[in-house]
Amino acid sequence: MQNAKLASAIDMEVGPDGRFYILEYGKGWFTKNPDAGLSRIDYLPGNRPPKVSNLEVNKLNGNLPFSFTASVTATDPEKDNLTYVWTVGDVKKETKEPRLQYTITKPGSNKINVQVLDDKKAFSTSNTVEVYAGNAQPMVNINLQGNRSFYFPGKPVSYQVKVTDEGAKVDMKNLHITSDFIQGRDMASASQGHQIISATIQGKNIMMNSDCKACHSITEKSIGPSYTDVAKKYKPDTRAHEYLTAKIIKGGSGVWGGNVMPAHLTMPESDVRQVVTWIMSLADAENAKPSLPAIGKIVPAPDEQKKRQNVFRLLATYTDNGGQGGISPLAGSGSIYLRNNVMDVSDFQQVEGFAKKDSAGASYLVLPANQGWIKGEQLDLNGISRIELAGFSATRPGAYQVEVRSGKPNGTLLGQAVMNLAGNRQRATASVPIQKNGQGSGSDQLQDIYVVVKPQQPAGRALLKTISFIPDNNSKAELSK
Ligand code: HEC
Repeated sequence: MQNAKLASAIDMEVGPDGRFYILEYGKGWFTKNPDAGLSRIDYLPGNRPPKVSNLEVNKLNGNLPFSFTASVTATDPEKDNLTYVWTVGDVKKETKEPRLQYTITKPGSNKINVQVLDDKKAFSTSNTVEVYAGNAQPMVNINLQGNRSFYFPGKPVSYQVKVTDEGAKVDMKNLHITSDFIQGRDMASASQGHQIISATIQGKNIMMNSDCKACHSITEKSIGPSYTDVAKKYKPDTRAHEYLTAKIIKGGSGVWGGNVMPAHLTMPESDVRQVVTWIMSLADAENAKPSLPAIGKIVPAPDEQKKRQNVFRLLATYTDNGGQGGISPLAGSGSIYLRNNVMDVSDFQQVEGFAKKDSAGASYLVLPANQGWIKGEQLDLNGISRIELAGFSATRPGAYQVEVRSGKPNGTLLGQAVMNLAGNRQRATASVPIQKNGQGSGSDQLQDIYVVVKPQQPAGRALLKTISFIPDNNSKAELSK
């Protein structure tokens, strides 16, 4: 089983049937892991079926005619010749290559998978990928004016959201823009908005394709209650999903007044569940808030009580009206993330030569005895005139050379200064002016920034707490306009 990938296996038992059962917790902690699962391991004597990798499809949606290439990698333990039988919706195609080029001419969603057979007809089937023919996913871009890495508390961020939807007219009513603050460490893994359709958006799509909208709106009461009111009413109820799914299927009246909701007996229960997931997501205040305008200015105001949630996020989602022949609407989203210009040392993931020190709930870096650096990944120094380091002296006085470099620890020098430490545990700062014409700075390029610290006169365990990116006066003036 050297090739079996497990997502945090936590238990294994031999069942009464003599087979192995493995329980996987999934990669995340304390979340509903999609990769959690219970698997059975069968022992197969004699000829073994081929192994199939994940099915990849180069395009997941598009207008008609819709052409795509699907591919897998398959290997056979006995090195047999392999045959590939592809399923695209109702159509089957056989190939000798692990690849299929195909064009769909009818609108609709199609499930694709491939069965790989060896000479003895032993086979494995790939995962299934769903493609949407007849509708292209809208593209959402957020353009920012000014610095693309940082926000400066009190200064407005100017943004503009652009939507393009191939083959369709863009209706800005279907654009929803929200802003919030998230914890810094989540940023690296935060999706940059290219996931096709989230489970909740899929639920909304299903709702928009059924009769629901005749009687329900998201925020206003109509013949039936608004979805937001439904979400609020059932938020504390742990059985809400079950109850609402059953109610939508069976219909009824009396909870919100005398009007009757008709039954939806032909709607697949899995679809109803997804709609309910979407409805319940409206209880989350952010999702129910009215949209911000497509062009606007926001002054980021992080919550002082939630210090770790200091990354400003602007999220725009556009859901189109669906394609020809009743094909589901598709959503596209774009997002931007801006950090507070005062970065805590714990926000830097890549540090060398500094020791970490945690004290009274705060994190520090101990200034290096030899040389050390702190890397800020892919930062925009546009409009930044100075980088300020702040921390505390140890008991002894000392001095450190601070250099800001681009790309690598010995890359182009963008600025340098000396950090003087007075001793007696006093506050200590260094202000490193960034040369306007330094390579990388002043241009639009994001760059890896290294803050390199070398002792001139080492001062014991002196501590660093924050690194701040200070805007120049010009951009301040421009921003406060
Ligand atoms: C003909 C109008 C009509 C249609 C179509 C309709 N509803 Fe309703 N819906 C209502 C009414 C009226 C109520 C209030 C029923 C009550 O008071 O018990 C309601 C209630 C609900 C509730 C809250 C149930 C409760 O007991 O609190 C949900 C959730 C809901 N509808 C979802 C949907 C979804 C999803 C669809 C589409 C699949 C849909 N409705 C289609 C009229 C409609």
